[in-house]
Amino acid sequence: MTCIPLAVVGGAFCARETEQLLLREAFRENFLIGAALNDDVVSGKDPRAAAIVAKQFNTITAENAMKWVWIHPAPNTYDFGPADRFVEFGEKNAMWIVGHALVWHSQIPDWAFEDDAGGLLTRNAMLARLKDHIGSVVGRYKGRVRAWDVVNEALTDEGGIRNSKWKQTIGEDFIAKAFEYAHQADPDAELYYNDFSLDKPAKREACVNLVKDLKARGLRVDGVGIQGHWGMDYPTTDNLEAFIIATGALGVKVMVTEMDLDILPTAWEYEGADVSKRVALQVGLNPYVDGLPPVMEKKLTDRYVELFSVLCKHSDKVDRVTFWGVYDKTSWLNNWPVRGRTSYPLLFARDYQPKPAFYAVLGAVEKKK
Ligand code: GLA
Repeated sequence: MTCIPLAVVGGAFCARETEQLLLREAFRENFLIGAALNDDVVSGKDPRAAAIVAKQFNTITAENAMKWVWIHPAPNTYDFGPADRFVEFGEKNAMWIVGHALVWHSQIPDWAFEDDAGGLLTRNAMLARLKDHIGSVVGRYKGRVRAWDVVNEALTDEGGIRNSKWKQTIGEDFIAKAFEYAHQADPDAELYYNDFSLDKPAKREACVNLVKDLKARGLRVDGVGIQGHWGMDYPTTDNLEAFIIATGALGVKVMVTEMDLDILPTAWEYEGADVSKRVALQVGLNPYVDGLPPVMEKKLTDRYVELFSVLCKHSDKVDRVTFWGVYDKTSWLNNWPVRGRTSYPLLFARDYQPKPAFYAVLGAVEKKK
């Protein structure tokens, strides 16, 4: 029998055991565990990835299918095909289905904010368009998509409201309006605010105030998602814990919604996940084309253990951990912030096999029990 020794877990897993090792079973008493899925996974083009999802996870998020630019590409034109496939896949596999994302400044066409002459819409016209969009998308999946990332990335790292076209057309209460319309479209759906870098104190405080404000307006808000596009040294465990504690104290669910760990050299002095930022490919930025050296594999594994130990410690507050993708080959981090790199951010390798980090996070939860 092949055994995989893992110093970091303090033990070894053998082949017969690994067949039984399931993330969704291991974390059953802690939190939901899932992945964001692309269309190849749900349409049958990537059956091995689909098999991993069906076996290992109990919640799924739409990686792209429900973003405005794809689901509502032109005025009065919706393309529900990929989103329908995603929801059907989730139902077939009895998953907790999360829709992502109704309101975001990115991956939305310019026309969405414009009148026929190309000028910015008035507040009232934009509110009507927002209500129509949310009503159409949330309404279509009423009772099937169990939860929505209603607003994504509305805060700046400094703690203000991002000066997006949402803010420019509607004003800062576009956030409240989105929650109001989503609740009208499906009163039973859970509604979340989602953002990156919420571990940073100024942004954390702004997020706490935002949730308080939404609640003070009498709106339904069920949870806050920290995206979790993290690196080897950010966030600090102290900042992550502070975020979990501050958000949990609001009485809402805390979630890591887009987890992946970047071990490639940083392209610039920026921590976060602003998809508009890109850097040109240079040789030094793509050092592991032929595989991760053992020392780096261990570094990645240890970092996964460190973060999962924090999440398990606070599993009374943490409701869900979702990875942004299923396996390394199709992660967005192969193309962001530098196109064409070979990236290693997830628990399953390019050949679909579980990585040492997979066994190690299972070890982290076992230790807690
Ligand atoms: C952000 C968004 C996601 C996704 C990732 C990168 O985190 O919320 O929808 O686009 O960036 O792929």
